[in-house]
Amino acid sequence: MNYQYTNEFRLNLVEWFNKEKRDLPWRRTSDPYKIWVSEVMLQQTRVDTVIPYYNRFLEKYPTLQDLAFAPQEELLKMWEGLGYYSRARNLQAGVKEVVEKYNAVVPDNRHDISKLKGVGPYTAGAVLSIAYQKAEHAVDGNVMRVLSRVLHIEEDIALPKTRKVFEEAVEMLIDEQYPGDFNQALMDLGAMICTPTSPKCLLCPVRDYCIAFSEGDADKLPIKSKKVKTKKVQFKVFVAMNQEGQCLLEKRPSEGLLADMWQFPMIEVTEKADSEEVFQENYNVQILNHIDKELLKFKHIFSHLTWELECTQVQIEQKSELPDAVQFLTIEQIKALPMPVPMLKILNVLN
Ligand code: ADE
Repeated sequence: MNYQYTNEFRLNLVEWFNKEKRDLPWRRTSDPYKIWVSEVMLQQTRVDTVIPYYNRFLEKYPTLQDLAFAPQEELLKMWEGLGYYSRARNLQAGVKEVVEKYNAVVPDNRHDISKLKGVGPYTAGAVLSIAYQKAEHAVDGNVMRVLSRVLHIEEDIALPKTRKVFEEAVEMLIDEQYPGDFNQALMDLGAMICTPTSPKCLLCPVRDYCIAFSEGDADKLPIKSKKVKTKKVQFKVFVAMNQEGQCLLEKRPSEGLLADMWQFPMIEVTEKADSEEVFQENYNVQILNHIDKELLKFKHIFSHLTWELECTQVQIEQKSELPDAVQFLTIEQIKALPMPVPMLKILNVLN
């Protein structure tokens, strides 16, 4: 794009943003901490889903210090349902670093902010441009889609190395005076006009500068190679009650998928062994009878993995000491613990 077009492009884009921007709670603040929280929540999650979480989270943790010293289980409970829970842990670790190393002031340059736990190139650029008005790129999937069309970039956006191409494009186009508005304008354009399917080109404020519009192939861009199929794993889930009406619950390990969250015992279904026998052996319990053999059957899709869950409700008796991280709890106690969405689904059908 030549210099004159670049200038017109950014003017039209920012002007459109000022008229049409969505009224979002994190747009009513310039506090870098709050903007950081919003950007972390928005990374893998839709705006509509994030809004109530963002409001509740900042009511509970209004300052960096409040979040830095929050108990982990409480933090996970605040994040419950948003998924990708390592985001919450990393955010807390990053916030703690800011409190301890930077006197509770979020760094205002890419070099320092990028060293914080959980702050990648996107989050760094978003916080720097929106909170500090720094002319820094913040390239996410939306921005890649918009710019792949405007500039007709045909590189595969599924490849990590492609991000650099778009970062350089933003550096060329960005409005030095209003970088936060410019970056958010690209995000809003991607969300409202330059959508993945059926883009609304006739409403687009920058269609005069869009190569894909003039070529008529906006719906063919961006180029994104298919990812490999996600792995499927089958589990039998045991909602196991003792005579007192308490239920067996287990805390997941501190590393890996859904770290430190709570779940009903799950046994992987294999041809080799009977799941009920494995359950009784691993948890030192005996099944007395089945309350509901097919309580619930459903799939839960993670980004890289699908769980196929078959839940059964049983009456059990404890035979010997329960394994570490396993406890009998009342339904009320269970409701206070952080649980992943598939487990909440099961909890919901219990009365
Ligand atoms: N998605 C990610 N960050 C966003 C923001 N600041 N505004 C709107 N959508 C977003």
